[in-house]
Amino acid sequence: MCGIIGYYGNEDAIPILINGLKRLEYRGYDSAGIAVINGGGLNVLKQAGKVKELESSVEESTLKGSVGIAHTRWATHGEPNDLNAHPHMDETGTIVLIHNGIIENYSNLREALQKEGVTFKSDTDTEVLVQLIASFYRRDKLSFEQAVRAALQEVVGTFGIVALCKEEPDVMVAARHGSPLVLGLSDGAYFLASDASPIIEHTRNVIYLDEGEMVILNSDGYTIKQIYKNKVLSKAVTTLNMSLEEIEKGNFPHFMLKEIFDQKQTIMDTMRGRLILDEGSAHLGGLMDCLDRIENASRFYITACGTSWHAGLVGKYLIEECAHIPVHVEYASEFRYRKVIIDSDTVVIAISQSGETADTLAAIRKAKEMGALTVGICNVVGSSIARETDCGVYTRAGSEIGVASTKAFTAQLTVLSMFALKLGRRKNLSKREGINIAKSLVGIEKTIESTLDDTSNLEYIAGETVKANNFLYLGRGLNFPVALEGALKLKEISYIHAEGYPAAEMKHGPIALIDEKMPVVFIAPHDLTFGKVISNIQEVKSRRGKIIVVTDKKSKRLDKLTDYQIVVPTTHTRIFPIVASIPLQLLAYYLAVLRGCEVDQPRNLAKSVTVE
Ligand code: AGP
Repeated sequence: MCGIIGYYGNEDAIPILINGLKRLEYRGYDSAGIAVINGGGLNVLKQAGKVKELESSVEESTLKGSVGIAHTRWATHGEPNDLNAHPHMDETGTIVLIHNGIIENYSNLREALQKEGVTFKSDTDTEVLVQLIASFYRRDKLSFEQAVRAALQEVVGTFGIVALCKEEPDVMVAARHGSPLVLGLSDGAYFLASDASPIIEHTRNVIYLDEGEMVILNSDGYTIKQIYKNKVLSKAVTTLNMSLEEIEKGNFPHFMLKEIFDQKQTIMDTMRGRLILDEGSAHLGGLMDCLDRIENASRFYITACGTSWHAGLVGKYLIEECAHIPVHVEYASEFRYRKVIIDSDTVVIAISQSGETADTLAAIRKAKEMGALTVGICNVVGSSIARETDCGVYTRAGSEIGVASTKAFTAQLTVLSMFALKLGRRKNLSKREGINIAKSLVGIEKTIESTLDDTSNLEYIAGETVKANNFLYLGRGLNFPVALEGALKLKEISYIHAEGYPAAEMKHGPIALIDEKMPVVFIAPHDLTFGKVISNIQEVKSRRGKIIVVTDKKSKRLDKLTDYQIVVPTTHTRIFPIVASIPLQLLAYYLAVLRGCEVDQPRNLAKSVTVE
């Protein structure tokens, strides 16, 4: 979703801002723009399309300055065109603003400003905000900082903003309410960004703004205040622990492929120091203070969106099987507006790679208000969900840049397996079974390596099925969510329509779609339901569907029934979802590449969805 970078220093701001925009591309966007202040002049260049195109326009321009702001926009209000791109300026050309989030009361504010005689150029809610700030600045003769604060008091909605004022060229003002902002502190220079990725190559020292906070940068340095009370705050500087390497592709053609291959390492990182092998249990330090309430919970809710929701479904199977506590898995967007049954014995687990997903954040705020204990399973350290939950576990997958989540998903599954182990061992899970699961987790590195060492079979299957317009993914039990995730990966990056179903549900509807053009992917390890899945495979075979199976050993039955087999090493049934997900990620990847799709930045998608 939209990305923000601001630079305040003494160097040429243009390359810093353009480079910053490139680092933000992964979030998903449709237009980009830049504004710099120079000798009392405020210059803006913005256009629909890619950062590369903006860069060319900037090179042909006379844009210059050492203080500036830049933005990648993901359209909400108004189509993605040059006029709606950020930065937005007020009609007098005094104030310029970039904004993430949504101003919900923009239409009332716009009408009121129009009555004052203000004219608008764009369809955006952001232009309303900048005109409002300018109106306070001119009409009420407020300082730039005061005008920003006054305008923000009128606003309903969410924002992460950075603004400049032509008449106060040494001041930059930024504020956060609902959309994250990070302040980077370097020698004589400051950076403001929607996440740390454009900052990391300049400095590791950052301050995360909390809700309702603003930063004022001027020649004396920085001041952080509460927006609404105007109270000065003193905040701790945090050291970023991500590396530049993490946010670069290295020798891989795409971030997604790099991140799929990263999984050999990341899954081990997720487990490091946490598995207790001889006890068949796990130690999750971030939960220690809340362990009593977790162990005595009468029910769990898992709330999340997209891929993280699929991880939650696997979590439900694992927790219910290992610990015999009921688990409800809810889309966060539903949870937040629905009458959920919550009391102080309820534990609500929020799963989120980014830790910033608006619906998931709102869901945990609601759960907290209703008295539940909230647990976060997040990848991004210091993210809003990580900070707002009562306790939690980091997934430690490292920065995930590809919009399609891969390594974060398997890290979430790994955390959920350890969570189920820990809880299970305090409840119903035998030590022996706990040790079996823990051993399989430890052995997973080799299992994954064997999938990644030779991808030729997957590339071949992709080549054979690339012309299909629809795919079906089917699995039972723990592998039903794996089917859902396989289908989601495929549609996200290749734009091939795909659906996931519990294998037995196929005959209740989707079977109508099956003909010789329809590839059907079965996730079919040799577990208790294998025989049942074989019957479902037979049903597809009779209707001439193309059968692809992900399984854990070759067998004559499968040889006879299937068109393509993807064989991964045998592992514990409860760990199989982690192992089976990786070839499905690769299959989606190769299909998308063959279809010439933009794998890392699929159309219309955003990496972190900060609007509801
Ligand atoms: C994953 O491939 C998707 N791009 C998307 O479904 C994502 O999982 C969802 O938006 C939730 O994001 P989060 O994990 O950052 O909360």
